[in-house]
Amino acid sequence: MKISIASDHAGFEQKQQLVDYLVSRGHDVADRGPDNDDRVDYPDYAALVARDVAEGRAERGVLVCGTGIGMAMAAGKVPGIRAANIVDAEFAVLCREHNDANVIALSGRFVDLKVNERILDAFLSTDFGGGRHAGRVAKIMELD
Ligand code: RB5
Repeated sequence: MKISIASDHAGFEQKQQLVDYLVSRGHDVADRGPDNDDRVDYPDYAALVARDVAEGRAERGVLVCGTGIGMAMAAGKVPGIRAANIVDAEFAVLCREHNDANVIALSGRFVDLKVNERILDAFLSTDFGGGRHAGRVAKIMELD
């Protein structure tokens, strides 16, 4: 799958590790930065990934900051984006099945790498459930 990924300084270390993990799983990964852990503003990087997804350059987006909260808030401002801040693999399944999330925002400070890898496995392998969820997601998108 074509995946766009970015972080801020707080998520940088895990972002690097998650890029390697995703590549090892056969994904086509565009690393949108940063390329070091100097202090940066997370909305700048959330916008790069969100626009990649919204404009069709990537099928899914992955963001990593300290908590994932700010990244999800910023990415969700881009029309076409349904961003979910996820710290648990079961929620990763549900954000796909129920909400058709196309961007995931992870915590690099409070969630272990192995847990984030399981979260990404679930996020990338779970299909949208459609059915009763489809109209609800359409109503989310009407808010754009
Ligand atoms: C940076 O200190 C921190 O605020 C950021 O990584 C993120 O957690 C924001 O939501």
